[in-house]
Amino acid sequence: AGADPTAYFTEVIDADQKVEPRDWMPEAYRRTLIRQIAQHAHSEIIGMQPEGNWITRAPSLKRKAILLAKVQDEAGHGLYLYAAAETLGVSRDDLVDLLLTGRQKYSSIFNYPTLSWADMGTIGWLVDGAAIVNQVPLCRCSYGPYARAMIRICKEESFHQRQGYEILYTLAHGTPAQREMAQDSVNRWWYPSLAMFGPPDQDSTHSAQSMAWKIKRFTNDELRQRFVDMCVGQAEALGLTLPDPALRWNDERGAYDFTQPDYEELLRVIKGEGPCNRQRMEHRRQAHQEGAWVRAAAAAYAAKQANKKEK
Ligand code: 3HC
Repeated sequence: AGADPTAYFTEVIDADQKVEPRDWMPEAYRRTLIRQIAQHAHSEIIGMQPEGNWITRAPSLKRKAILLAKVQDEAGHGLYLYAAAETLGVSRDDLVDLLLTGRQKYSSIFNYPTLSWADMGTIGWLVDGAAIVNQVPLCRCSYGPYARAMIRICKEESFHQRQGYEILYTLAHGTPAQREMAQDSVNRWWYPSLAMFGPPDQDSTHSAQSMAWKIKRFTNDELRQRFVDMCVGQAEALGLTLPDPALRWNDERGAYDFTQPDYEELLRVIKGEGPCNRQRMEHRRQAHQEGAWVRAAAAAYAAKQANKKEK
């Protein structure tokens, strides 16, 4: 890294290379990465709840097996991301504590209820679809461990999105009641999925700095627009309509004009006043408490193995 580590850091960022855990990095770079990666991990873990709600009520063994696999994948994504955050010098226990005490966030999208089986399709198609739009650029994030975690996660998200799309396609081409259930689900999840990309760029506290450090490669609004443009054709293929009468192709912009989500609602949900925030946190706190014996047993076993090695 030579005499001046800050020059080296800037060179690495400018050359689109990776900053690695042992490299010098500005304290603020480390802190914003811990913030973003930890909250990303928390989102994956909390995100297991809305879908977990339907595992015992899946309409067939095949759908149950696929949903089980998807929920287990989300836990694994949380694991990769906590491990990536730990390379920045924080412990997973500390991060979990920050979540459980409400000092760190998780994605707004998981504070909405899953009211029908069709929601399993819509979450796969829209929420995992949005996640892919957000996470593919993160594979080129300047921090090595985060970028590498994203590569594996994006592969699994593609499976998540395909299985969700297929559920919706089956329902949309099923009985009128199934069609209606699919359309109702899309109507409920469309705007919260747009809000998932974060506040508009002019209200985004971190975007400018995160873009300068090549953590973020596109802004919130750029990714939101990309997501809308991707979904319009897919909705047509599904035979479902997106609940936005203002949606229309704009030749000049080469993109769809669309109605923005309610950012006041997003702020309320982020602050903890969404439909399911309390339930999600209570469930997580209880699960954490009930899992204490597993953590103690694993630690005791690890200590025993370590003793054996020393003898
Ligand atoms: N939900 C909750 N908080 C949000 C949010 C959302 N949808 N969007 C923004 N925020 C928060 C930010 O965390 C920040 O608060 P903080 O300073 O306390 O962290 C504040 O609102 C201002 O927003 P910014 O745009 O300035 O924040 P960022 O630059 O961090 O951008 C982000 C927000 C786009 C979510 C970015 O953090 C990001 O890309 N994170 C990684 C991806 C991620 O976390 N995805 C969550 C979904 S997980 C998932 O999709 C699982 C899949 O399996 C379904």
